[in-house]
Amino acid sequence: MCGIVGGTSERNILPILVEGLRRLEYRGYDSAGVAFKKNGTISITKNKGRVEQLAKKLNLKENQSNLGIAHTRWATHGIPSEKNAHPHASKNIFVVHNGIIENHNELKAQLKAEGIRFSTQTDTEVIAHLIKIYTEKGQSFEKAVFNTIKKLKGAYALGILDKNDPEQVIGVRNQSPLVLGKGFQENFIASDVMALSPVTNKFVYLDDGQVALLNHHKTVVKNASNQTVRVKTHEVDSNAYTTDLQGHNHFMEKEIFEQPAAVKDSIEGRLTKNETQEGIFGAGFENAVKDITNIQIVACGTSFHSARIFEFWSHKFLGINCRVDYGSEYQYQEPVKTDKTLLVTISQSGETADTLSSLKFAKKTGNPISLAICNVANSSICRESDFTLLTNAGPEIGVASTKAFVTQLTALNLLLLTLMRVHGCLPSARKRITKALNELPKHLEKTLKQTDVYKKVAKQLFKKNSTLFLGRGLYFPIAREGALKLKEISYIHAEAYPGGELKHGPLALIDKDMPVIALVPDNEHLDKITSNIAEVAARKGKVFTIGPLGKTKITKEGGHIKIPKTLDLLNPIISVVPMQLIAYYTALFKGTDVDKPRNLAKSVTVE
Ligand code: G6P
Repeated sequence: MCGIVGGTSERNILPILVEGLRRLEYRGYDSAGVAFKKNGTISITKNKGRVEQLAKKLNLKENQSNLGIAHTRWATHGIPSEKNAHPHASKNIFVVHNGIIENHNELKAQLKAEGIRFSTQTDTEVIAHLIKIYTEKGQSFEKAVFNTIKKLKGAYALGILDKNDPEQVIGVRNQSPLVLGKGFQENFIASDVMALSPVTNKFVYLDDGQVALLNHHKTVVKNASNQTVRVKTHEVDSNAYTTDLQGHNHFMEKEIFEQPAAVKDSIEGRLTKNETQEGIFGAGFENAVKDITNIQIVACGTSFHSARIFEFWSHKFLGINCRVDYGSEYQYQEPVKTDKTLLVTISQSGETADTLSSLKFAKKTGNPISLAICNVANSSICRESDFTLLTNAGPEIGVASTKAFVTQLTALNLLLLTLMRVHGCLPSARKRITKALNELPKHLEKTLKQTDVYKKVAKQLFKKNSTLFLGRGLYFPIAREGALKLKEISYIHAEAYPGGELKHGPLALIDKDMPVIALVPDNEHLDKITSNIAEVAARKGKVFTIGPLGKTKITKEGGHIKIPKTLDLLNPIISVVPMQLIAYYTALFKGTDVDKPRNLAKSVTVE
């Protein structure tokens, strides 16, 4: 979703801003723009389309600047167009924005009544006009910003310039992420650390309501009441933010193949021979969850699917009631009074607005113990939670989540094992799961080797309009994840159904043009899913099966993909890999933009 990078430096800042935009591309965007100081004035260059085109337009050989703000826009209000691209200006004021100003219609009406004319369809433009009006009334740039943000409702991270205050950049954070990057004789703001990792490793994670005032030799952070606050500067490992493809064709491919290593990193130092190490969720966690009677999980997208798998684990191994909700739905229900609840939020980015606001809602309306399962340290969701377990997948750039999912499941398995220990579940069961978890990277490695098989299936899918994924029990969320991967990157309609629901509707769709991918486990669901597959085959549907058993007689025209067999509770993690690669190769055959699928964003920072 929208990305911000800006700053001021003694050196030419334009290449830094453009590289920052490139590094924010993964978030998803449809247009981009830069405002920069040149010869005492501020110039704007904007573009619908890719950052590379913007870079050409900017003419980096000729143009130089020491101060600027830049933006990648993911359209919310107003179509993707050069006009609606940020920065937006009102005379002397230039603004880039990530988020949504919820009261923009009301503000727009007031400004129109005062004679202000709007030139874009965006919600952002009101901000530029408001600040400009205050500066015209004689207020300083800083005061005008403070007075403006008092009027704004909604989520916003802002980068702002004033032509009449040409040494200063102001950054504002309220419910949309913004970091302050500190360098030598240069200071920056950005939506995330990755945007600035080539130029600094020193970051301040701004809190909601904070305003950062920066010139090239100084930064000041103030709270919403305009008082200076002390902030902590974190040193991050910039090497972790490499955006190198390392020989792969796409980030998605690289990230799929990184999964065995990512799982290893995820369990590294967290397991003994027989179970989880104590304290991996932070001091006090195990004591806090001793007498929980409920688990509530909130997540979105792929992370929601990992939550649904944990739900099964919780019921089967812990006997603790677990409920899973979408971030976008949870906070709009009447909170049910429950006994002691562990609230788990799962998020790759740690910035998903719906998940974050659900977490805040849960804390306001109840008294849960909050745990974040997250891939980004110091992200908003981690900071808002009592406890955090980092998934340690390393940065995930491809919009379609892969290694983040597999490491979320790994981390959730560590949660399961820890709760099993704390709640006194059988040591032998804990030992068995621990052993299988340690072996998971080896099984993933093996599964990744069958690329020819996945390509063959993809060849049969890429010209189709629609596909159906079937799973039962633990494998239904995996079927949903497989369908999500395929639709995200190949734009082929893909739906997932529990096998038993086939006869309640989707069977009507089956014909020779509707491929079906069915997950065939080696558990109590085997016979029933086998019958479901037969129902499809009887209607000339082509079925591809994935599972740990050998070739079965049921698949007539499709084929069977055999994956390594492990404990039933972990086998779903292995079975997602073929579906990730089938989706990837299908998208390649179709020629879609695998890493940046149309209309989607990696980090969804608006509700
Ligand atoms: C977006 C991404 C998905 C991701 C979802 C939730 O839709 O494209 O890949 O699963 O957001 O994101 P989170 O960062 O909270 O896991």
